Amino acid sequence: MNEFVKIEDREAVPASANARKVFVKTYGCQMNVYDSQRMADALGADGYVETASPDDADMVLLNTCHIREKAAEKVYSELGRLRKLRDMRRADGREMLIGVAGCVAQAEGEEIIRRAPVVDFVIGPQTYHRLPQVVSRARGGDKVVETDYAIEDKFEKLPERDEKQVRARGVTAFLTVQEGCDKFCTFCVVPYTRGAEVSRPVSQIVAEARRLAEAGVREVTLLGQNVNAWHGEGPDGGEWGLGRLLRELAEIDGLDRLRYTTSHPRDMDDDLIEAHRDLGALMPYLHLPVQSGSDRILKAMNRKHTADDYRRLVDRIRAARPDIALSGDFIVGFPGETDADFEDTMRLIRDVGYAQTFSFKYSPRPGTPGADMGDQVAEDVKSARLLSLQALLDQQQAAFMNGLCGRTLPVLLEKPGREPGQLVGRSPWLQPVVCDENVGKIGDIVDVRISKVSANSLIADNREVEQTA
Ligand code: 5AD
Ligand code: SF4
Repeated sequence: MNEFVKIEDREAVPASANARKVFVKTYGCQMNVYDSQRMADALGADGYVETASPDDADMVLLNTCHIREKAAEKVYSELGRLRKLRDMRRADGREMLIGVAGCVAQAEGEEIIRRAPVVDFVIGPQTYHRLPQVVSRARGGDKVVETDYAIEDKFEKLPERDEKQVRARGVTAFLTVQEGCDKFCTFCVVPYTRGAEVSRPVSQIVAEARRLAEAGVREVTLLGQNVNAWHGEGPDGGEWGLGRLLRELAEIDGLDRLRYTTSHPRDMDDDLIEAHRDLGALMPYLHLPVQSGSDRILKAMNRKHTADDYRRLVDRIRAARPDIALSGDFIVGFPGETDADFEDTMRLIRDVGYAQTFSFKYSPRPGTPGADMGDQVAEDVKSARLLSLQALLDQQQAAFMNGLCGRTLPVLLEKPGREPGQLVGRSPWLQPVVCDENVGKIGDIVDVRISKVSANSLIADNREVEQTA
């Protein structure tokens, strides 16, 4: 999944004085961000309101990530800090319930309570609709571990999204359409923590997208670990793929921008590529991880395509939508990776040219085939490769950003900026754009001229402003 895009802490909906408060902390991918919101909604129906700090929380819920080792270790250190906070609250005669959700919860289950007895409940991603019952048992003093793969549909059982909450969260939203993965790349825990691939039905997705639009959302990002493998029965009785779904969503009034993530190269079908050609609402940005540019390593990773298959695919996508920017994920130091394999990855990166990327040292995940492969790469070799890979990727990102300087871009205004008098929006290619507040109001899409580029954002001047929506 498109991971570890910096997740900004969500703004909590203001708490009323005597309601019970929950602080939800999210690690990892956007699907966890979406799940955290849905859990907050489910707890809201149970009388909890969100708070922005653990200090005044009656419940702290960590929504965790297991994709790499450090991610799980961070959770255990956070639990150590929370134990101290809970003990301080207890000394003041107050309680604090501590829950662990997400992929570490699914993978480690009871082990979490053994290693961190401060935890009251552990809940896996397939069972979030049971959260209110789990919390009520935990409040009664039970230690609860709920990590079944539930047979019932979690999305059907979760309460509908509350319009007030959606409004408070802003003009962009995530919408999970597919969850789980059947691909079994040999480095990846996702098929074990999120289970088999499940697609939500068209009717559910369209209804949720409409509710989001009615609550003022202008941009929706469809989420799935393998989002382009999404398929479902349409209202016409036929089998729909993601391209058809995007065409349907583009018809919804108010939804002016659509995105989807994360895609697998093998699931980019013709209809989806043509949707990029046909739909103005579909933003010209695609996260299409390739992981490695070496055929030998791609095979060992079980990616089921070659580096040239990927190059050809990128050519087809660019032919359909010439202004599309690509982002990707790369792993260095997969077992058996030689200098020559690594050079193949560097060559692929030079050939493709990325606007943004995420790159990682291989981290053996227990239970995955990669962890048991011989020929693990030494840590210092991984570090050196990551450094040179990131230097190249940083150069490409800077070149892409600099290329936007002087251009006029449509920007969706999202929130106030850091300085008074500023608003921050997003370009079609996802960069934050700092604008003068007189360009429009939050939720507007305005044309602004980019006059400066900083490391991670674009700065607009306020001349030649023209309202486009
Ligand atoms: N080690 C390093 N990186 C990993 N990823 C997934 N599993 C591992 C692992 N075991 C990376 C991949 C994936 C992204 C979400 O995280 O690049 O696309
Ligand atoms: Fe993991 Fe591969 Fe599935 Fe992506 S496609 S979630 S990397 S197993």
